[in-house]
Amino acid sequence: MSQVPVARLQDVTKRIGSRTIIDRVSLEIYPGEVFGFLGPNGSGKTTTIRMMVGLMAMTSGDISIGGHSVRTHYPQAAAQVGAIVENPEMYKYLTGYQNLLHYARMNASITRERIDEVVKLVGLSGRIHDKVKKYSLGMRQRLGVAQAVMHRPKLLILDEPTNGLDPAGIRELRDYLRQLAQEEGTAVFVSSHLLSEMELMCDRVAILQKGQIIDIRSIRGQAASAQQQAEEALFDVDRPEAALGVLQGQGGGRIVDGLLELTADRNEIAEVNRRLVEAGIRVYGIRTKTKSLEDQFLEVTGSETIG
Ligand SMILES: Nc1ncnc2c1ncn2[C@@H]1O[C@H](COP(=O)(O)OP(=O)(O)OP(=O)(O)O)[C@@H](O)[C@H]1O
Ligand SMILES: [Mg+2]
Repeated sequence: MSQVPVARLQDVTKRIGSRTIIDRVSLEIYPGEVFGFLGPNGSGKTTTIRMMVGLMAMTSGDISIGGHSVRTHYPQAAAQVGAIVENPEMYKYLTGYQNLLHYARMNASITRERIDEVVKLVGLSGRIHDKVKKYSLGMRQRLGVAQAVMHRPKLLILDEPTNGLDPAGIRELRDYLRQLAQEEGTAVFVSSHLLSEMELMCDRVAILQKGQIIDIRSIRGQAASAQQQAEEALFDVDRPEAALGVLQGQGGGRIVDGLLELTADRNEIAEVNRRLVEAGIRVYGIRTKTKSLEDQFLEVTGSETIG
């Protein structure tokens, strides 16, 4: 990704009293990507989002959106953002369309054509002239997204948008977020505590645990990148020292707890295995140390629920 990020969080920290709720969170969100912010309950997703949209001050660090610091140039930064944090404010006795018109009046750049366009995008055309009080949860949420993107923000932020949606609703949400990302180049930032939903919706995911980011990784094309990415491989062999000797001069390796450990991609692992076997070393097992996103997330969520 050679593009300039839409949003950049740099060492964002939030302390309340003596507690550090958000601890040096750094990440970048690029145009046209759907970025997931995954963490168990209480890990700090909403707090981070509140700081991104200026609802809460940071203790230290900075957030810039479209190149403008939320700290020093808040109005310019906020102008680039569309967000739904907690429940979107809607007038229940007005229709969905009247609600959108109401918000459009606050921004001269929003035309009727644009309203129709976003209504279509979120799939609400058939019900837009119904009163909001008759909407289901999923329909209200669509209206919230329509309202949040009317002014063509560079960054759309949604806190737990899949809460309360059924699987079909989640799929539709994913489809229109993706359309928004692709067709309008919007950077979409969504939080969730459910890995399965993030895997369906996102290009990249950051895992948050107790206010710290423990991993950021790509989801899409993961199978392809796993082929090329070098990882720590552990070889269980009968003679580790001799095995190390066989590999000298070829990236080397080290012995850890009686296992031969080295950094290699998939092809290299196969090649190392062949060379060891050819040298008369018995290979009992090979495994890689990299944990899957699911392993990692289960560790996090597991410890939260048990601990
Ligand atoms: N205003 C506040 N004062 C004190 N502590 C707070 C405040 N807001 C949040 N916290 C604490 O900060 C931590 C992170 O809360 P936050 O709401 O950001 O988590 P979350 O990841 O959004 O969780 P959930 O999945 O339940 O929405 C929690 O321990 C919470 O109790
Ligand atoms: Mg939250």
